Order: sequence, then C-alpha cells, then structure tokens
Amino acid sequence: MISETLKKAREYEKREQSKIPEAERPAYHFSVPVGWMNDPNGFSGYQGEYHLFYQYHPYGTDWNSMHWGHAKTRDFVAWEYLPAALAPDKPYDAAGVFSGGAVEKDGRQALLYTGVSEEVLPDGSKQVRQNQCLAVGDGLDYEKDGANPVITADQLPPGSSLEDFRDPKVWKEDETFYTVVGSRAEDGSGQVALFSSEDLKHWKFCSILDRCENRYGKMWECPDFFRLGNSQILMVSPQDMMAEGLEFHNGNGVVYLIGDYEKEQFRFHRKAVQSPDYGLDFYAAQTLETSDGRRILIGWMKSWDANLFPEGFRWNGMMTVPRELSLKNGRIYATPVRELERYRRNEVSYRDLALSGNMELPGLRGRTADITVELKEESYECFRMLVAQNQRFRSEIIYDPKKEILTFDRTYSGLRRDFACRRSMAVKARDGRVSLRILLDRYSVEIFVNGGESVLTAIIPTPQEADGILFEVQGKVKADIVKYELAQ
Ligand code: FRU
Repeated sequence: MISETLKKAREYEKREQSKIPEAERPAYHFSVPVGWMNDPNGFSGYQGEYHLFYQYHPYGTDWNSMHWGHAKTRDFVAWEYLPAALAPDKPYDAAGVFSGGAVEKDGRQALLYTGVSEEVLPDGSKQVRQNQCLAVGDGLDYEKDGANPVITADQLPPGSSLEDFRDPKVWKEDETFYTVVGSRAEDGSGQVALFSSEDLKHWKFCSILDRCENRYGKMWECPDFFRLGNSQILMVSPQDMMAEGLEFHNGNGVVYLIGDYEKEQFRFHRKAVQSPDYGLDFYAAQTLETSDGRRILIGWMKSWDANLFPEGFRWNGMMTVPRELSLKNGRIYATPVRELERYRRNEVSYRDLALSGNMELPGLRGRTADITVELKEESYECFRMLVAQNQRFRSEIIYDPKKEILTFDRTYSGLRRDFACRRSMAVKARDGRVSLRILLDRYSVEIFVNGGESVLTAIIPTPQEADGILFEVQGKVKADIVKYELAQ
C-alpha cells in the first residue's frame, strides 16, 4: 500500500520531469528529475543492478520535507529514474525521511533510513527526535516496518544527543548486518556508532568507532565504513569544519579516516586523515562495492553554504561522477569509474606539444569532455587552462610549479551570488610530471590529479555557448593532451 503522500510525489515527478529539456541537464552526471536533491542514499547493488536513492524534495528547488528519490544503473553513467521510494508519511518520520543505506536480504531490498519526528511540547518548544527506521521492498515499492523505529537514540552511550542521530549506512558481513550511524557525544561533537543485527529489525549497540572531539568539525554526518586494500576506512561528513592549510576548508566537508580495525572488539584505530575532494562542491559521499570487487564512491555535488544552480531551472541537484577508490602508499586515490571510457567519442590528441604564451588548439573546445593534460618537464612559472570560456566567461585551472599548488577559480563563471569561488590544493610533480584529468559537464568541472591522488570538484553555472578551452603559460612546458567528447 502506498501512502497518499508518496503517490502525490510519484505523480508529480512523473508529470514534471518530462517538461525539463534534456539539454538543460548534465550529459553524464546524475541529476534530480525535478526539484531539490541532496545526499546520495542507499547506494548499493541489488539483483545485478546498482541502485541510488537520494534526499529529495520534488516540489521545489530548495531543501524541504525529505523524501527518498530513486534511480538505478548498470554502468554508473546511464541512469534510469524510478518512482520515489519513500515519503514522510508516518508519525516517526513525518518531519523527514533522512539519509541512510540499503542492503539485500533474502532477495528483497532493505532500506535503513533516519526518521525525523517533531513534537511541540506544552511550553511551546520543539522536540526533535532522529531514529533509524526500516523499509523493505522489491526494488520499486517499499513497506515500512511495523516495529519502526528499529534503532533509537537511547541505545547510544549515556549523554549522546537524542536529536542528532542519523544517516545509517548498512552492509552485510558473514551473515550479520552492521550499520554505522552519525551521532553527537556528550561534549556536543561528532561520533560514529556501530550496531549489529541478525534480521535488520533488532539491533545491538557494538561500539563508538571514532570520536570527533571537536577536532574535525562538530557533528559527523553520513558515515561509511569499508575496507580498502589493507586498511579500514571510516568516511564521515563533518559539519562546521574550520580551514586548515590547504587540507580542509570552512563549513561542511568530507574526510577519510584511514586506520585499522579490530573486528572482534569493534575497535577502529585511526592513523591518518585525508580529504576525498578539495573542491567547492562535494558532500555526504557514500560508497558501494561492485560485484567485481571495486569500491565506488559517489558524492553530492554541492555545498550547503552555496546553493548554486543555473537561474530559472526547475531541478537543483547533481551527483559527482562515481569514482573508483584504491589505496597506494597510505593514500586513497580516486579515478572516474572506468565505464565512463565507453562514452568517449572523437579523440583529439597532441603529443609533446610546446605550450607557451596564449594558445587555443584546433579541435579543443566543448562543454562535455574528458581531457587529460600531462605537463612534462621544462621551465614554466605558471600554467593556466581556461575552460567554459568565451569573451565574458571562464573558469581557470592554475598550476604553480614552484609553490606546488593547483588552484581552481570560478570567479568569472557567471555566478551572480557572493559564494566561494577559489580553492587550492597541494600538487607535486611525480617523476617530473603533473597529470590533470578534467571532466567537464554542462554545469561542473572535476579535476583528478596524478592518477587520482587528489580531486577537486566544482559546479559552474556558465551558459553553454561558452565552450572555449585556452592555455596561458608563463614560460614553456611540454605537454601531452588528449580530449574526448563524452556523450550518451
Ligand atoms: C547531510 C544531511 C544528513 C541528513 C540529510 C537531510 O547533508 O544533513 O545528515 O540526513 O542531509 O536531508
């Protein structure tokens, strides 16, 4: 039985999404059918396909009463929209069906999500509660469990917040289900709680895997916990971060906590911390494991502090390109999912090209492209690449080989609001080379440096006619450049 609230959302999205022209959407990034989207949810395999749910408000382009939208894919590039999966239609989730995960159980698809309820107390104050809830279905329709909520905040260590307890990521290991949930400890800062269950309905508190202690932001949202190579990764999305060097920026961010895991004791030992993305628009990332053993990450391509999307559009929300993760020398690398290469068309390439001064290269333009620029030895003081460029607009990718800093700057990308526009990251030459793989889509730029050693993601609202690509080099650098159009 689907509720009136869900039925209404399904009818609305079906009717309205078809009114949005394809050309107004990104060409190969997942975008919300209509309205608002934030976090990826329930990113997981189910019966041979990969499902993506997401925080969804179909009726407007701002955050509001949260539903779960739904889509699936076989290759992480071509997505099929499915009807909205969950609506806020029960007393325990009426104030929002917040983020969570999905897992297969006995051939069915189980969704574990945060139900938010809000009660006005006799003194007029509001009491918010966040608890974890279960819904089970067939990949299209889901039934919420009669015993919801299945995990409540009073199962946490004493002093933990009853209000901030959200975003269960769920997985199965040796016949047991586990979930990690973001929460706030007695000191008000974030912690990640681990629970286990045999049936997804009865959950036991196992441990607090890690605590923020006000070091990396405050509340930790959207945790994920997975093995990568010989390390264990706890990934969290902290709120209220403060900038530290070039590693972390102000506001909401995402961090990988890299460490070891003593599974029997449920103890995680953090050894290193790394930013998955140094860009302007990246949050609430989630991962899955593919049937061939790859760990794939997808993030919400947006910042909570910069609600940036092209004016007048009826959709507001994109995901990053899904990224394959690997661990090399203690660092997590991310590269665009290999399936994207099947969508490459019309190669243009230059080998050992001497770049110097201002240059435009024949065949090198466009707004939906996969471009690799490999800067080889030689003497240059500054490399600048202008993309989505015309007389009025541009976004700049700037590399300073002396300072070993790569900067992205969208000041002139067509923004009409006073949002952050520049971000820099440390980039060192490897064997005398700096390699930049740049994914351009109609409204975004993603830069993968040195085979995925660091990544920078940003939205650009630039009109599509600005499709130039220019180089401006102080000094001289030898470069290999390969460009493909990306088309579905
Ligand atoms: C993260 C987040 C989650 C929450 C959701 C609500 O972006 O704040 O913690 O579940 O968004 O939409």
